[in-house]
Amino acid sequence: MKADILKQGAEGRLYIGESNGVSCLVKERFVKSYRHPVLDNQITRQRMKAETKASERCLKAGILAPKVLHMDLKERKIYMEYFDKAITVKEFVNKGISKDPKVINELFEKIGTIIGTMHSKNIIHGDLTTSNILMNPKTEDFSEYDVIMIDFGLSHYEEGAEDKGVDLYVLERALLSTHSELPELFEIILKSYKKVNSKEETTVIAKFEEVRARGRKRTMIG
Ligand SMILES: Nc1ncnc2c1ncn2[C@@H]1O[C@H](COP(=O)(O)OP(=O)(O)OP(=O)(O)O)[C@@H](O)[C@H]1O
Ligand SMILES: [Mg+2]
Repeated sequence: MKADILKQGAEGRLYIGESNGVSCLVKERFVKSYRHPVLDNQITRQRMKAETKASERCLKAGILAPKVLHMDLKERKIYMEYFDKAITVKEFVNKGISKDPKVINELFEKIGTIIGTMHSKNIIHGDLTTSNILMNPKTEDFSEYDVIMIDFGLSHYEEGAEDKGVDLYVLERALLSTHSELPELFEIILKSYKKVNSKEETTVIAKFEEVRARGRKRTMIG
């Protein structure tokens, strides 16, 4: 059977496969020959474990994420639940599937609630972008949908505010570059984020601003 490849990149590939007779998504990470093999193996194992761990933690906290069915460290493959009708938030916005400000507002409010919940459970995503958030339609026209978090390879568990601030900073940068025509998105996210993570809101936002100021200084110096 020839594999149905969804994505082929320098880092790895994603294709439809099966685990115990169940059709699923296989995420395979390639060996990087420019890296020392021992180090390369370590990094890959760490990312695969992070991916599995974080999706379990999310599901436990009521946050939607692909269920990991099987992890094969030797083959460098993760077998996970595949949402075949889902599209990324990036696609939804940039393809103009809905241009209704109310729809966009509601979507980013939901995203803020999810990230706030993740942070309140000390789950740091590590790569928050609109390519790593899926919308799974419940109706054909996306008038109802689930928001699903994916791509947890850079995630970790951390109680402190600093990493949460960095997580938000990464997201702000991603939104500004991917959705430059909608500069209000990050603010919408923050509003609902603060509601669900009110306990830490002030410290996380202070850290976020500190990281952002550092980033600015760096770009000014060049
Ligand atoms: N469980 C899933 N169900 C449906 N589509 C998925 C799923 N996981 C990933 N995808 C699609 O495949 C794309 C790439 O997946 P993912 O973000 O996990 O890999 P990546 O960005 O190549 O990974 P990494 O950053 O870890 O190298 C996603 O943007 C999404 O379009
Ligand atoms: Mg990704």
